[in-house]
Amino acid sequence: MKSRVIVVTGTPGTGKTSLCRYIVNRNKDWIHLDLGRFAAEANAITGYDYSLETGIVDMSILKKALRKHVSNSVEEGVRLLIDGHYAAEVSPAEYVNYCLVLRCRPDVLWRRLRSVKGYGEEKARRNVESEITDYCYLMAKLHFKRKRIVQLDTTGVSVGKTYIRFMECYREGFRCKGDVVDWVDFLLRNPGKMSFLFR
Ligand SMILES: Nc1ncnc2c1ncn2[C@@H]1O[C@H](COP(=O)(O)OP(=O)(O)OP(=O)(O)O)[C@@H](O)[C@H]1O
Ligand SMILES: [Mg+2]
Repeated sequence: MKSRVIVVTGTPGTGKTSLCRYIVNRNKDWIHLDLGRFAAEANAITGYDYSLETGIVDMSILKKALRKHVSNSVEEGVRLLIDGHYAAEVSPAEYVNYCLVLRCRPDVLWRRLRSVKGYGEEKARRNVESEITDYCYLMAKLHFKRKRIVQLDTTGVSVGKTYIRFMECYREGFRCKGDVVDWVDFLLRNPGKMSFLFR
């Protein structure tokens, strides 16, 4: 089997882990690497940021451990999904075949982060702002210049439907069109959906 390394990135709450779990549950030859867990196992978490309510990751420790792990996985010929909102920044680009960026409309993402994930207001707001400014997509473009990058919008879509679209893209070698989102334009057209920004 030909090895494949796919980075699955996107703002927290866009559904990366839900999708990756769905993929590995249905395809036994795929492996899901959750970067948060991997960073903890690699002893790359060096502290805690109380304002952001998140662990502080030593990027150089993480990058080194990840490079070794990915290189071994490629030698073993596995299909690897690297899942994390900072996956584009830390994954070894030379081993990465494709990058998937999951997206979610800001007002819907706000509700997912606040109600489902239980994020505090400040943490939820910062993450939604990252989504509005395309942060993960920009990072993917920056780090995977010559790779195929596809965005999929998960707003109002089940994980199963996103899975079907992902598999179609995968079979086409990520030559599919994916979705183009413009959340600034959406918010300008729907100012009522912006209220979470002013709480
Ligand atoms: N396609 C989807 N449609 C609707 N809801 C979804 C979808 N994908 C995920 N969700 C919901 O959004 C929540 C967040 O999903 P998930 O934990 O997979 O996000 P994540 O991108 O892995 O976030 P993090 O970066 O924090 O790990 C989940 O509780 C899930 O039920
Ligand atoms: Mg996750």
